[in-house]
Amino acid sequence: MLVAQISDIHARPDLSSLRSLERAIGWLGTFHPDVLVVTGDLVDDGWRHGYRLVAESLRSLDCPVHLLPGNGDDLQLMRSELAAVGTWINATGPMHFRTAVDGLTLFGVDVTVAGRSYGDVLPHLPWLVSALADVTTLALLFMHQPPFRIGIEALDQVGCRNGNALLSTLETMYSLPLAILCGHVHRPAFGRLGTIPVQTCGSLCPPNPLLLESRADLPVIDGPSFLVHEVSDGRLVSHVVSIPASDRSA
Ligand SMILES: [Fe+2]
Repeated sequence: MLVAQISDIHARPDLSSLRSLERAIGWLGTFHPDVLVVTGDLVDDGWRHGYRLVAESLRSLDCPVHLLPGNGDDLQLMRSELAAVGTWINATGPMHFRTAVDGLTLFGVDVTVAGRSYGDVLPHLPWLVSALADVTTLALLFMHQPPFRIGIEALDQVGCRNGNALLSTLETMYSLPLAILCGHVHRPAFGRLGTIPVQTCGSLCPPNPLLLESRADLPVIDGPSFLVHEVSDGRLVSHVVSIPASDRSA
């Protein structure tokens, strides 16, 4: 079972990150994952045409696609322009999803807070409890903002609040998810919430600098990247796939 995850396209009219999306989708179109999850921040500044272009690109894949919004998304535009791609439980509430693919359950929890850059999982724990109640399969949990401290101060100020309440809730379930898979950080990063692995997906827009513990902002050559999660026999291995950065002249 191969679950691809892309995140943080942040499409703008300069088209640079849309070109990175095209490259990622071209790669995935040949690779043939079983499912693709997009963990938010698709388009900047409510650019309606950008949502249309992202939808066209995603629809070219021949696998199911599931979407979460990020703090930068316009939820109304995202719903209307990506209706043919995403399926949401209701037309106005949080854009959670739950789906099963070959014995693996995928959950997406929309933790965005209107008008804020941080996320908050607390209001969505009742949904998670009901959505997880009858799940006895292996599961992956997706969200936009990570529910733990990433160590980059500017990002921790806009992370997902109430991660400990999420952990307490998950610990009451039949089994813990194999991993919590997030976006928002614009870098691949790996940690834990309790004993649950938490991973953040790289972005298709330019990555964030690695500003840890007041160290210097050193140049790096990180390109746009995404994740491919392989799940088999109860084990999860996640692979980082980097693609060439967009060249505006391309
Ligand atoms: Fe974000």
